[in-house]
Amino acid sequence: MSTSSPIDRQARRAPHVAIIMDGNGRWAARRGLPRTEGHTEGEENLARVVRAAVTRDIGWLTVFGFSTENWVRPRAEVRHILGLHEKLFSRIAELNENNVRIRWIGRPFDSPEARTPKYVQRAIRRALHETESNTGMVLTVAFDYGGRAELMAAVRGTRRAGSAITAAAIDQHLYLPDLPPVDLMIRTSGEHRVSNFLLWQSAGAKIHFTDTPWPDFDATELDAALALLA
Ligand code: IPE
Ligand code: IPE
Ligand code: MG
Repeated sequence: MSTSSPIDRQARRAPHVAIIMDGNGRWAARRGLPRTEGHTEGEENLARVVRAAVTRDIGWLTVFGFSTENWVRPRAEVRHILGLHEKLFSRIAELNENNVRIRWIGRPFDSPEARTPKYVQRAIRRALHETESNTGMVLTVAFDYGGRAELMAAVRGTRRAGSAITAAAIDQHLYLPDLPPVDLMIRTSGEHRVSNFLLWQSAGAKIHFTDTPWPDFDATELDAALALLA
């Protein structure tokens, strides 16, 4: 037996799972609660799913928290979701206990279209810094993220570098060039849509749809989705 080459190791990297966390509003409506309660429960559930994910064979977990299209929602709802992202990026002790490195993907703060407010930017920067030496699972939160905006930025970056528009060049100019291809995409709450999430990275992904709304998506559901990779 020969020793494994870097290419073999790359082929065996722990899978990248991406989740479109949908259905918070419907989860709340079914209980006669305001939509904001659904988002609060959704954030709590993300913390639970992260704890489940670190005990499974998942190297990269990328979750869709808020899209470039979601800013049109009512102001009060947007404000609530912003606060929940500040909370999520402040779960630093918990991330460190689980050896999780947290990252963010979205429109760069200094780009003209970016809409992430300063206080959320601060929470993001601090979380990235304080978990950067963790060596376990990489949790990437997509906030103010849109796949089309990312692709346009990548094409502009490639042109600015004077490179030919090749797949490799676009790879290098994505928001997070080292984010591996998505192996498994999960969408909760019954909608069968991609909604502008990781368009380039999920070109070859398997897709698991479930009717379960995000706040109820648990470890059993995660295992059912992971079975697609077996
Ligand atoms: C997902 O839940 C959370 C965000 C998009 C921020 P929704 O808020 O889309 O919930 P539904 O789809 O209305 O049930
Ligand atoms: C998708 O949710 C985006 C997130 C989960 C953040 P939406 O509920 O906004 O998606 P569409 O627009 O209905 O597809
Ligand atoms: Mg929705």
